[in-house]
Amino acid sequence: MDQFLITGACRIAGEVKISGAKNAALPLLAAMMLADSPTTLHNVPSLQDVRTLIKLIAGMGIDIQKEGDTVTCDNSGIDSYFAPYDLVKTMRASILVLGPLLARYGEAEVSLPGGCAIGSRPVDQHLKAFEAMGASIIVENGYVKAKAPAGGRLIGCEHSFDMVTVGGTENVLIAAVLASGTTRLENCAREPEVVDLANMLVKMGAKIDGIGTANLTIEGVESLHGCEYSVVPDRIETGSYLAGALMTAGDVTTTHTSADLLHPVLKKFEAMGATVTHGGEGHDGWIRAQIAGRPKPVDIRTQPHPGFPTDMQAQLMAICCLADGSSTIIENIFENRYMHVPELKRLGANIKVDGHTAIVRGVDKFTAAPVMATDLRASMSLVMAAASADGESLIDRIYHIDRGYEDVESKLRGLGVTIERVKG
Ligand code: UD1
Repeated sequence: MDQFLITGACRIAGEVKISGAKNAALPLLAAMMLADSPTTLHNVPSLQDVRTLIKLIAGMGIDIQKEGDTVTCDNSGIDSYFAPYDLVKTMRASILVLGPLLARYGEAEVSLPGGCAIGSRPVDQHLKAFEAMGASIIVENGYVKAKAPAGGRLIGCEHSFDMVTVGGTENVLIAAVLASGTTRLENCAREPEVVDLANMLVKMGAKIDGIGTANLTIEGVESLHGCEYSVVPDRIETGSYLAGALMTAGDVTTTHTSADLLHPVLKKFEAMGATVTHGGEGHDGWIRAQIAGRPKPVDIRTQPHPGFPTDMQAQLMAICCLADGSSTIIENIFENRYMHVPELKRLGANIKVDGHTAIVRGVDKFTAAPVMATDLRASMSLVMAAASADGESLIDRIYHIDRGYEDVESKLRGLGVTIERVKG
């Protein structure tokens, strides 16, 4: 297993180009399976999860290819509606192929994703909504076996999600666009990645009202055509590099990204004493965060968008570790998303966790240590903490980081971090 050797202390400063969002690219790739003619997707990040989903889709006989940051997809050769366990178990978002298979081809057999380090993460909300649209679903031998009603087409319905679920909203939205009649969905996720998906579906000919709100109304259409689309910038990657500036009295400008995507995070950066400036929009925007001296403590509570994102919780915690005072963090989305805490403590942090709440007492600085990356986004908190500490830190299990951050070493080097990949 590869490791990162990081030699600090570094001041994180400079300009970094942000990639397309992994969490938007995955549902967009799944949605490409709906089209009757070829679709082209630009700004797709080169990440393991993207490769996994492409492999899964290609395994069904679909001609899907990635060249540079562009993916093309032609569904005409599809000859299987099956998503095997060995691929699904490596990436939970594989469940997103269930919606398009069911809606466009009338049947699907998709492995249930297994457990996940940050929580149990069931898919009951996805299945419940498909059943409300007339699908018959059985779970057998670890697989979800789903069939559309007689006639092969899902039926529009009124459905309210029991909780806000990003993947659930995406899966059901993808299915509803080809259902017969109207589907009204309540309590939908409003994350920018859900909006991006809805926008691409509209470009393919779907009829969706209420985009960006919790209530979506979808007028089913008989078919969708291919289109050309570009994945929204990655707001979590953006926030993670900006967080590096706050931890090292640094000055980072992220480009090809937009402040509109991460206002809740930028507000916290400002509350911590950073000067945040931004300009432009969409893929042409930029954000700069700079800070002199130590950050101030803040309180954070993770919530569905437009609340503070759980995927930035660890990075904010790492900044709080260096703050001049005590911060309180409450994780509301996942039950076990504090695995980075023992690792941050190895780097000298003072954190106490009680259930969903973490109390962080700021220390002057981190101290170098060997640590282990835990989950995909949280791992960046360890990288930044190691960069800010004097001396050498070895970070193990960096495959987690590779899943979430494109070209992470070269981007970090460009920002002044001394980092080497140690091949394992
Ligand atoms: C997505 C993101 C992930 C992010 C999360 C929350 C992708 C690929 N991943 O994950 O990075 O951390 O949103 O913003 O986009 N739940 C159920 N039943 C369900 C579905 C969800 O109980 O059927 C629960 C989950 O266990 C969790 C909460 O709802 O506690 C939110 O999960 P969800 O929004 O679905 O997360 P993902 O889509 O898996």
